[in-house]
Amino acid sequence: MNALSPVSPRPDHVPEEAVYDFDMYLDPALLTDPHERVRELLRDAPPVFWTPRNGGHWVVTGYAENYAASRDTESFSSQLMPTEQAIAIMEQLPPGVHHPSPTPITMDPPVHTMFRQPLNPYFSPKAMLARKQEIRSLANELIDQFIDKGHCDFIPEFAETLPVQVFLNLLGLPGERQAEFRDLVHMFLAPITSLEDSTGRMRKVADAMADVVKARQHDPKDDLISLLWQTKIDGKDTTYELMEDFGVLLFIAGLDTVINGIGYGIRHLARNPDLQAQLRENPKQIVEAAEEILRRYTFTIPQRRIAKDVELGGWQMKENDRLSLYLPGADLDEREFASPENFDLNRENKVHIAFGVGPHRCLGSHLARIELQVAYEVMLERLPQFRLDPEKPAKFHAGFILAMDSLPLRWD
Ligand code: HEM
Repeated sequence: MNALSPVSPRPDHVPEEAVYDFDMYLDPALLTDPHERVRELLRDAPPVFWTPRNGGHWVVTGYAENYAASRDTESFSSQLMPTEQAIAIMEQLPPGVHHPSPTPITMDPPVHTMFRQPLNPYFSPKAMLARKQEIRSLANELIDQFIDKGHCDFIPEFAETLPVQVFLNLLGLPGERQAEFRDLVHMFLAPITSLEDSTGRMRKVADAMADVVKARQHDPKDDLISLLWQTKIDGKDTTYELMEDFGVLLFIAGLDTVINGIGYGIRHLARNPDLQAQLRENPKQIVEAAEEILRRYTFTIPQRRIAKDVELGGWQMKENDRLSLYLPGADLDEREFASPENFDLNRENKVHIAFGVGPHRCLGSHLARIELQVAYEVMLERLPQFRLDPEKPAKFHAGFILAMDSLPLRWD
């Protein structure tokens, strides 16, 4: 087992009652069954607490507290480094080169709004629904490759491959580059070792798209890269540097997320044969089932920096403290959802925050929903009852995402 991160001293403004020891990367229970550990956090720790691990930071597990912090962008900033520190770091990097960064997820309003608004129409429900048939065909092709074996590791053999292929098609990148982009996804999953490592990864992603981005500037086709070239920010034309930033944003935000969303859904179905039978009989319920899966197994943990002294959950936070919006906790908070551990298609309150809330609410939620629904539809249509492999338990890793590495399944 990996050693937990060292313990940092408690700052003066953090009272002892606010402290709960939780390593969001290496907590052993989190890596065994992530959402069981999240439920334990909700039982054992206050809805906002401070952990001494990983340099010391706040963790927000309550629904109301996550909601409030996500909307108060003046106090809870998405610009994770103070401006002066960011400038100092940029000065250490080789000069004269653009260092791609995921714009606008790291910005705050009003600048964030300027970059985000023009992107919205490209990801509208209508534009994304038009891709459903294509996503179904891709899902069927993947299942063709393993259905006769009677077993598969669902993460590499389906959950990772589908979103990567959807991403390539959407952006207009050649489908044959699937393996290369899956390698890039794996590269992104590895722990970051240094600043150079982090900027180097984003550069690799931007470079992988460079040829198509350049080609589409003067020769547009029917793809997202061509549309992004037409985006005007504050009345100004898109630059090549901004195209790199958008590419990195979509890569970071749209792949690892869908991979895990599909993984948790299929794991839930594999553990619940009655639900499989119910959905095979009533496939129209898959839309609602996909939403309840997102709530029950919310898995992203957006990060914020305290931009000015503020109170949350009864604790005083200081400028430049770090904070994790632990959304998996929010959607399992019994102050918000009755019997939150139950999977209940008829629950009264269905307003989960798996896609976040406030100005950074997920841009790709409509696409994500279609990918999740199609994955469940096609798996239930094609496979007989499937179950977890009793000899090979699922494997997880944790951090800013509660992620699945492996999900071995069997069927007869
Ligand atoms: C099940 C899948 C997904 C989940 C659970 C998810 C979740 C989220 C969450 C929680 C945020 C808010 C982050 C924050 O507050 O800092 C977010 C933002 C974002 N997501 Fe998703 N996401 C998913 C899929 C996608 C897909 C498929 C795309 C794109 C193709 C996408 C693109 C984005 C973008 C661009 C942002 C940043 C928006 C902004 O800063 O204004 N996401 N997502």
